[in-house]
Amino acid sequence: MSNESVQFYYPSEETVKNAAVSGMDAYKALCAEAEADYEGFWAKRARDLITWKEPFTQVLDESNAPFYKWFADGKLNVSYNCLDRQIEAGKGDKVALIFEADNGDVTKVTYKELLVKVCKMANLLKAKGVQKGDRVVIYMPMTVEGVVAMQACARIGATHSIVFGGFSAQALRDRIIDAGATMLITSDGQFRGGKALPLKAIADEALAMGGCDTLKGVIVFKRTGMDVTMVAGRDEWLHEGMASQPETCEPEWVGAEHPLFILYTSGSTGKPKGVQHSTGGYLLHAILTMKYTFDIKDNDVFWCTADIGWVTGHTYITYGPLACGATEVVFEGVPTYPDAGRFWKMIQDHKVSIFYTAPTAIRSLIKASDTNAAVHPKSYNLSSLRILGSVGEPINPAAWTWYHENVGGGRCPIVDTFWQTETGGHMITPMPGATPLIPGSCTLPFPGIQFAVVDETGAELPWGQGGILVCKKPWPSMIRTIWGDDERFVKSYFPADFQGKLYLAGDGAIRDAETGYFTITGRIDDVLNVSGHRMGTMEIESALVANPLVAEAAVVGRPDDLTGEAIVAFVVLKGQRPTDPEATKKMVKELSDWVGKEIGPIAKPKDIRFGDNLPKTRSGKIMRRLLRGLAKGEELTQDTSTLENPAILEQLRG
Ligand code: PRX
Repeated sequence: MSNESVQFYYPSEETVKNAAVSGMDAYKALCAEAEADYEGFWAKRARDLITWKEPFTQVLDESNAPFYKWFADGKLNVSYNCLDRQIEAGKGDKVALIFEADNGDVTKVTYKELLVKVCKMANLLKAKGVQKGDRVVIYMPMTVEGVVAMQACARIGATHSIVFGGFSAQALRDRIIDAGATMLITSDGQFRGGKALPLKAIADEALAMGGCDTLKGVIVFKRTGMDVTMVAGRDEWLHEGMASQPETCEPEWVGAEHPLFILYTSGSTGKPKGVQHSTGGYLLHAILTMKYTFDIKDNDVFWCTADIGWVTGHTYITYGPLACGATEVVFEGVPTYPDAGRFWKMIQDHKVSIFYTAPTAIRSLIKASDTNAAVHPKSYNLSSLRILGSVGEPINPAAWTWYHENVGGGRCPIVDTFWQTETGGHMITPMPGATPLIPGSCTLPFPGIQFAVVDETGAELPWGQGGILVCKKPWPSMIRTIWGDDERFVKSYFPADFQGKLYLAGDGAIRDAETGYFTITGRIDDVLNVSGHRMGTMEIESALVANPLVAEAAVVGRPDDLTGEAIVAFVVLKGQRPTDPEATKKMVKELSDWVGKEIGPIAKPKDIRFGDNLPKTRSGKIMRRLLRGLAKGEELTQDTSTLENPAILEQLRG
C-alpha cells in the first residue's frame, strides 16, 4: 500500500492539543525514551502512577526468565489504589459507577460508597475464612456487585478467577478445580434482554458433579429474586452476610508479583489455561493505557461494554478506570434490548465521552440500523463522544468507517487496540491525539512495547512481509505463568524455536511497507475468534467426542460477516450417519445443545456436518486445510491423492 493510495484519518488540532500523548513527536519521544532506558521508562511511570506502601528498588528481574518479575520488592494494594486514594485526593463524592440495569434502571455509586461496599464484602470473605493467596471464583453477571466482588478480593489479597456467566456447569466446575478455589461468589440469576436466566442453579450443578473439594462455601448475590436452593452450611446470601460487616477494611499489602487474578482462556489444547497476572505490573499498564490510549481526563465518562468475565472487563472496567479516578458506565444488558439503539441511547443519556466496544457489536448494529432508522446512531445525540475504541478481533474497514462516521460524527479518533488475555492491556494501538489512522490497522505499538514480525526462526522480517507476531522484551503487565503449569507457559509463549527469548502472541501480522503499521492477520494456532470470544478448536472437539454418539470430530473456523469467524464441526458418528434432512436436523440440534452444555452457548457450532470418516492422510493425520476449504464452500483444487478416503469429501461438502 503506498502512502498516496491510503487515506489517513488525522486527529483534530483540538484533540492533539489536549491529549496525554500530543502529536507524533510526543509518541516517538516516548518510544525513544523506552529504547534508551527500558527499565527506567517503566520504573518512572510505576513510581508516578501507583501509590506504593513500600517502594520498589528492583525494576525488572530476568534471573529466572521467562518467569520475569517487575517491581518485585515493592508492596501495594490494588483496591487501595482504585478507591481509598481517590477519596484521599478529594474524589469521595465523585460518581465512580453509573450502573444501568437491563431494564433501564440507573444507579450511581460514588467512590466513597463503592469503598464501603468493597470493605463490607472483603470483611465477609475474611469472616468466611478466605485468606491472602486463596483463590475465589466469581460467577456473576454484570452488576455493581460483580465489580465489588473483584475489588474485595484484591483488597484482602485473594486471587480472583472470574468465570463468564455464559459458561456451563462443566466449564465452571473445571475452573474451580483447576484454580483450587476455596470460595465461590455467584448470583441467583442474571437479567439479559428482558429475561431472567439462572446462575445459581448452574453453579449447583457444577458442584454436584463432584471434585470441587477445596471449596468451603458459596456466597449468593440476590439479583433476579428467582427461586434457588440454598444448601445449609454451604451457601449464604450476600446481603445477609454483608449486613453486619464493618464498613472499613485495612487493605492487605502484597508484593508486586502477588497474583491479582487468574483468568481462563482458550489455547491449542482441549484444556483452557489459567492466565496468571501480577499486581504491580498489571496495575501500571491498566493505568498507563487508560491515560495514553484513552486519554482519560477527570470530566470524562468512560464506557467499556465488555463483560467482567473477559480480560477487557478486568482491565477496562474493574481496574483501569477506577485506578484513574474516572466515572464509568457499567451495563448489565445486551446491545439489542429493548432495541438496537440501546448503546446510542445510553451514550446520549449518560453523556459518554469515551466508548469502547467490539467489532461484532458494531457489525450487528450496522445491520439493525440499515433497516430501522429509529435505531440508527444518527437518531441520537452523540455529541458527548470524543474517543472511540475497538477490541477483541480485527475491525474490517467498512465497519471502521461506519463507526467513525455515524457514531463518532467523523470527529472522534478510533483506537483499534490489539491485545490479549495474556498481555493484560493494550499492546498495539493508536494514540488518539497523535497517530494518523488507517481503517483496519491497529497501527503502532504502545510506547515501550516492542513488537515485531518474524519468521519461523525468530529473525525479524522486513516491512511488507507477513509473519509471526512476537514481543521482543518482557513488559510489566505480561502473563506470569499458566496457573499450576509452568511448563505449558514456557512452551506456549516462549518456545524453543525462538531460543525462549521472544513472546509468541499466537497471531500472524504484517507491517505496512511504508508506515510500519501493524495489521493482524489472524491466529496462527488452533484458536478461533467468534464474536471476539476466544475458542480453542480442540476444546470444542473434546466436547463433541465426549458425547456417546460421537466417534470423531474436527472443528475449524470459517470467515463470517457478522461474527468474524464461525465454528464448523465435521463429525463422524459411532452409528449410521443421518442422511435425510429431518434426522440430520435433529442430530445437529442434539450435538449443538451438547456443546452448549459442555462449554457454553458461545461454543455452539454454526454448522455441523456428518461423514463416514474425516479426510486423513495415509498416516492418519486429519487434513485440516482441506476441512477449512470445505467449510468455506471452496472448490477443492488441492491434490487429494494422498488422501486415504477421497470419497468422504462429497459427504462433508455441506
Ligand atoms: O487474535 C487476536 C484477537 O484476539 C486475541 C486475544 O483474545 P483474548 O485473549 O480473548 O483477548 C481479547 C481482548 C483483548 C488476539 O490474539 N484480537 C484482539 N484484539 C484485536 C485482535 N485482533 C485484531 N485486532 C485487534 N484489535
